[in-house]
Amino acid sequence: MTTPTDRPRLLQLGRLPPFLEGPLAEGYDLHRLADEADPAAFLARHGASFTGAVTSAGVGLDAPTLAALPALRVVSSMGVGLDRLDLPSLAARGVAVGYTPDVLNDCVADTAMALVLAVARRVVEADRFVRAGRWAAGDGFGLGRRVSGAKLGIVGLGRIGRTIARRAGGFDMAIRYHSRRPVAGVDWPHEPSLAALADWCDFLVVITAGGAETRHLVNAEVLDALGPRGFLVNVARGSVVDEAALVRALAERRIAGAGLDVFEDEPRVPEALFSLDNVVLLPHVASATDETRRAMAQRVLDNLAGFYRDGRLVSAAS
Ligand code: DGY
Repeated sequence: MTTPTDRPRLLQLGRLPPFLEGPLAEGYDLHRLADEADPAAFLARHGASFTGAVTSAGVGLDAPTLAALPALRVVSSMGVGLDRLDLPSLAARGVAVGYTPDVLNDCVADTAMALVLAVARRVVEADRFVRAGRWAAGDGFGLGRRVSGAKLGIVGLGRIGRTIARRAGGFDMAIRYHSRRPVAGVDWPHEPSLAALADWCDFLVVITAGGAETRHLVNAEVLDALGPRGFLVNVARGSVVDEAALVRALAERRIAGAGLDVFEDEPRVPEALFSLDNVVLLPHVASATDETRRAMAQRVLDNLAGFYRDGRLVSAAS
């Protein structure tokens, strides 16, 4: 049942944390599409009443939903990834798009380093070893690999990539990066060939945007260049890595290991990975700290407030 109010009418797509949903419900006439038994029928009846949509990087806004919102003027998305938003179509419709960059750089970079350390020093595997009573039973655990002073290749030197590079500097790591073009104003060497970067480094950390342009950028050739002493860490999007090729490379020990926060078909993770000790698997939590998620939620609110006040978003996606 919809009741007219003078507050802007917002459609909520997917789940959002309570500290965002609460203020949204206070400031706007918020409607959760997920509460509808038949979302398509609801949109056909009421889609034209919404001027705003609020979503997240993982959910985005699909084409049928966009088509069902003829009065849409603004989308406010919680997250930095834009790969689930059709920016050209939104721009063609004149819809403003807000997102939440910068506030998550530190936590995503922290997670990248956590995965580097976890795979190299076998942290999760060692924990399993202790819990299984194998230390107490006198079994030997074996050696990990040194992180301090090792070589780190970064795929994508945007804001988060640069934050990772600064973290890695604290570990005295040698750093190079790959991106389509060299990034101005940084001292880290640019490597135009991704395979050459993979060949050079001990740890290849992927933090480039998802989407059609970067799909399967890390393919079998890159993984073979990384080789049996190299580790892959992905905190970007699952689509950037050819997951089938990665599973094969890991199972055949053609690379040393992987730390993965993201997957091609989330939340589905290839079962073949579950039995591999050289892999650390996270459920896409790189930005998931209380502090950062609250800062992201605040940016979602600020983007909406700015838009409805004077048409200006704090963080506009284009
Ligand atoms: C982001 O903000 O894009 C994170 O990866 C969450 O999806």
